[in-house]
Amino acid sequence: MSVLQFPKGFLWGTATAAYQIEGAVYEDGRSESIWDRFTHTPGKILDGSTGDVACDHYHRWREDVALMKNLGMQAYRFSVAWPRILPGGRGAVNQAGLDFYRRLVDELLEAGITPFVTLYHWDLPQVLQDAGGWPARATAEAFVEYADVVSRALGDQVKHWITHNEPWCISILSHQIGEHAPGWHDWPAALAAGHHVLLSHGLAVPVIRANSPGAEVGITLNFTQSVAASDRAEDIAASRIFDGFFNRWFADPLYYAAYPEDMVALYRAQGHLPAGGLEFVQPGDMAAIAVTTDFLGVNYYTRAVISAETLEQGGALPEPALDRTEMGWEVYPEGMYELLMRLHVDYHLPKLYITESGASYSDAPGPDRRVHDERRRTFLRDHFAASHRALTAGVPLAGYFVWSLIDNFEWAKGYTQRFGIVWVDYATQERIPKDSALWYQQVIAEHGFDAAG
Ligand code: FCB
Repeated sequence: MSVLQFPKGFLWGTATAAYQIEGAVYEDGRSESIWDRFTHTPGKILDGSTGDVACDHYHRWREDVALMKNLGMQAYRFSVAWPRILPGGRGAVNQAGLDFYRRLVDELLEAGITPFVTLYHWDLPQVLQDAGGWPARATAEAFVEYADVVSRALGDQVKHWITHNEPWCISILSHQIGEHAPGWHDWPAALAAGHHVLLSHGLAVPVIRANSPGAEVGITLNFTQSVAASDRAEDIAASRIFDGFFNRWFADPLYYAAYPEDMVALYRAQGHLPAGGLEFVQPGDMAAIAVTTDFLGVNYYTRAVISAETLEQGGALPEPALDRTEMGWEVYPEGMYELLMRLHVDYHLPKLYITESGASYSDAPGPDRRVHDERRRTFLRDHFAASHRALTAGVPLAGYFVWSLIDNFEWAKGYTQRFGIVWVDYATQERIPKDSALWYQQVIAEHGFDAAG
C-alpha cells in the first residue's frame, strides 16, 4: 500500500461549462451565442450535433446538484452564459438569466458545495461577434460590464471567480486554427483577440473584487507541456517555440506584463503580426493585464512532443504507439507534476487550482447498469498522484476539478467524446455514476487514496 494523503482543506470537485450542458438555448430570454451559430452551420461539428438540448441541465440542475452531493463533492466549477444575462451583449439585464444562476448557487451552498464561477467559457453573444467579436477592443469593455452585472448579483454568495477559460482556445483555436467558433483563419485577428481577452480579465478583476468582498479571483489557462523530440538543437528550438505559442504567450503578460520577445519577433517575421508589431497594445494595457490575482486555474490534459518537422504541422506527436485517450491525447500523468513545478518556479504563483483534468473514454453501461471505466479511474489516480508529488514539493495547489461531472457536448467533437465521471443517456437524460465517480467519492471521503490500488 502506498497511501497518499491530501491536506484537509484541499478542495475536490468537478467542472462543466454552460454551453456544454445547459441546453434550453431559446428559453427565458437567452440570445444566440457564437456557439449556436457555429453548431448550426453545416460541417463545423463532427457528428452534426448542437448544444440545443445537451444534458438539459437548465431543467435538471436540482438533480445534478443532488448527484454531486451524493458523490461527496466539495466544490463545483461551472460557467455563466453571457447571452442569458445580457442578451444584447451589453445594456439591458435579463433578470430570468440571473435568477437561474442564483437558484443554482443557493442549491449548491445548501448542499455544502463551494461554487467556482467561470464568467467566460466561450459562448459570446452573437451580437458582439457581429460587432467584431474578440478581435475588437470594444468586446473587452463589454466583458467588464457583463462581469460587473454577474458579480454584483452573485458576489455575496460566490467567493471564487474565474474570468476566462483558456485564452489560447478563445484566440488561436477559434480565430487562427478555426476549429472553434467563430471558425476564423486569421493570425492577426487571433493575436488581437487574445490581447483583448487578457485585457478584459485585467480590467474585470478590480470590478469583481469590489462587488464580491473577500473573494478569490483568478483566470484559467490551458497548458500543454512542450517536450523536445530529441536533443538535436533544432528540436529543442522548436519545442521552445511551441511553448511560446501555447503557454508563454498567455502566462507572461499575466505575470510579467509583457509578451515573450522571442515570439513577438517570430510572429513579426512570419507576418502574423503587422510590421509595426503589437499594434493592439495601448498604453497601460500590459499593467492592467498583470493585475494581482489570487490564483491561477490550470487545465492540463496532455503534453506535446515537438520536433522541428512536427512543429510545421502544428505540433503533432511523432510516436503513434503511445497510450492515448479517445481524443487522441497522450496519457502523460508525469506532465502534471512537471507543469506544476514549472509554473511554480517560473511564475511564483500564490495559489493554484487544477480547474480541469480528465479523460475521454466511451465505456458504456453493461448489463449490470454500471460503467466500468477502469481506464478513467487509473487516469485520475495517476494524475492525482502526480499532483500530490507537486504539493509535497511545495507547490501551493489548493484544489482539483475533474473534467467533467457529466458526459456533455464536446465542442467540435459533438457528442462523440465522453469525459464525464457520470454517464449521460442522451435519449432519456438518465445519469449513471461511473466506477470512476464511485472511486472519486471514496478519495474525497478519505482525503487520499492508494497510489498503487
Ligand atoms: C477544455 C475545455 C473544456 C472541455 C475540455 C475537454 O479545453 O475547457 O470545455 O472541452 O477541454
